Amino acid sequence: MNNSHTLFAPCQVGNITLKNRVIMAPLTRSRAGEERMPNDLMKEYYMQRKSAGLIISEATVISRQGCGWVHSPGIYSDEQMEAWKPITQALHEKETPIFLQLWHCGRASHSSFQENNQLPVSASAIKLNEDYIHTPIGKQPYETPRALETEEIPRIVEDYRLATERAKNAGFDGVEIHSANGYLIDQFLQSKTNHRSDKYGGSIENRYRFLKEIVEAVLTVFPANKIAVRLSPNGDFNDMGSPEYRELFTYVAQQLNNYDLAYLHIIDGLQFGFHELGEPMTLADFRQVFDGVLMGNCGYSKDSAEAKIREGNADLIAFGRPFISNPDLVERFANNWPLNPPADMQYWYSFDAEGYIDFPTYEESKKS
Ligand SMILES: Cc1cc2nc3c(=O)[nH]c(=O)nc-3n(C[C@H](O)[C@H](O)[C@H](O)COP(=O)(O)O)c2cc1C
Repeated sequence: MNNSHTLFAPCQVGNITLKNRVIMAPLTRSRAGEERMPNDLMKEYYMQRKSAGLIISEATVISRQGCGWVHSPGIYSDEQMEAWKPITQALHEKETPIFLQLWHCGRASHSSFQENNQLPVSASAIKLNEDYIHTPIGKQPYETPRALETEEIPRIVEDYRLATERAKNAGFDGVEIHSANGYLIDQFLQSKTNHRSDKYGGSIENRYRFLKEIVEAVLTVFPANKIAVRLSPNGDFNDMGSPEYRELFTYVAQQLNNYDLAYLHIIDGLQFGFHELGEPMTLADFRQVFDGVLMGNCGYSKDSAEAKIREGNADLIAFGRPFISNPDLVERFANNWPLNPPADMQYWYSFDAEGYIDFPTYEESKKS
């Protein structure tokens, strides 16, 4: 455990020493174009944020089937793998590590993203209950996904392994398995979206099996200390939240504690949506069952992040929205400089440089 009391104490993550504990959270920004190809614009964006202790990439789809967001990048072709290389190389020249976040959207998709307009897949045929999804053909109502056949699941696990191989070849320092926010793995974990009667459904152990198989497949590519998992025990994003959340996520953390993972990433804050099914789970809850590096996220300021580290309940804190509008977030925290106002949401997923690489650093804003 790393218990230093400031965001600026180094932290050991596997064999990497992070220069600080201000982590850039995974942020989908939709700048990869229709081909889902990393590019120079993305490189500039990540390089502007190079002072982060660790960058977690935007969620990156592991397969065509996993797609569910317009213009998010992929890691399912050799071309995409090659296109990530300039980004990882440039960051490494500045000694900034970067993990790739592995993504399969599951039911949070639409047939217009899929090969031959097939239905998206999920643990069970349960429709995501939200108004609409942004698709390549505009806003569309959600469709009822197709429940995966038991025999299809190894193929998806293999897609995670292949994506990890490509991530390794592309120079990433590790991978974060996106098991949060109502995407495919979360759809398997939670009873709300998993009504299966095979070995992937029913008991908590069975619902965890899909994630377990993915972790073990990824372990054939990277050692455990280059593999991380992200969970959202409190979230309602993508129509999630299950009554047994406490038991479920405690069990998952206990199981993950059997590996010497790089870190466990918990979206503990409630500012991105809370299911209100009971008391929220805290980092202290996870600390009781997880001995490794623990990363908190959601709604943190410099002060609340330091307080959490001081209490001993987090080693690292990831910042999402603050990194969108403050490329030099680390320097601002270090010097107690004021932050830029939050970015307008219209730029979160817009497709070009505006609202992406044009936020001034504190030094730049002083000059103008
Ligand atoms: C524009 C935007 C894109 C996001 N994309 C992702 C993503 O790709 N993967 C993920 O796990 N979370 C994603 N999130 C959630 C963030 O990682 C983070 O959990 C959230 O912003 C709360 O942290 P914050 O209060 O520091 O912003 C996204 C959030 C925003 C605002």
